[in-house]
Amino acid sequence: MTIVLATRNPGKISEIEALLTGVRIATAASFPGCPEPKESGRTFEENALIKARAVAGFTGKTALADDSGLEVDALGGAPGVHSARYAGATASDGDNMGRLLDALSGVADRTARFRCVIAVVAPDGRTWTSDGVCEGRILREPRGESGFGYDPLFVPAGYDSTFAELDARMKNRISHRAMALRRIAETLDALKEIPG
Ligand code: IMP
Repeated sequence: MTIVLATRNPGKISEIEALLTGVRIATAASFPGCPEPKESGRTFEENALIKARAVAGFTGKTALADDSGLEVDALGGAPGVHSARYAGATASDGDNMGRLLDALSGVADRTARFRCVIAVVAPDGRTWTSDGVCEGRILREPRGESGFGYDPLFVPAGYDSTFAELDARMKNRISHRAMALRRIAETLDALKEIPG
């Protein structure tokens, strides 16, 4: 069975590839014309389903989408589903981190969590979702080079290093994405029987 990842985010792709074993993985980029639907949902689950349905519909293969983001308590859960575009439609990771640090300037409560919802859509339209969270806190300045997104600002609970300082294998053990993928593993095992 081939699973098509409904994302073009290289950071997500490499983490999902490391975590999903025993299946052939393709990405939406290998299917010319594959739609990149607007993430118009109000929740991670709605957005993950929008992306997975679009890719399964276009490719005729099982699609897996990740919708994820950072929820900061002192900001009422922002940036949440807007994490990728927090500082604007074309914002870089650095722009988004800059906006986050500005929003938290002078704020003592730094608690936050990453949340991830994985949606899997089979060619026949059946859908499954799972979620994962990783609690932590936001630093006052970025540290570390690896990972992507807000990783240099996020220290997971129980650790002193940011996600961008931790070894990729360690992040893949404790992350929101790892938790959501573990939870959907049984579904994927069942789907392995489907040819294609
Ligand atoms: P979307 O799921 O494509 O809407 O984008 C998710 C956004 O949330 C990413 O672009 C990052 O800014 C942020 N994000 C999600 N997961 C992670 C992570 O594991 N590390 C750092 N940032 C993340």
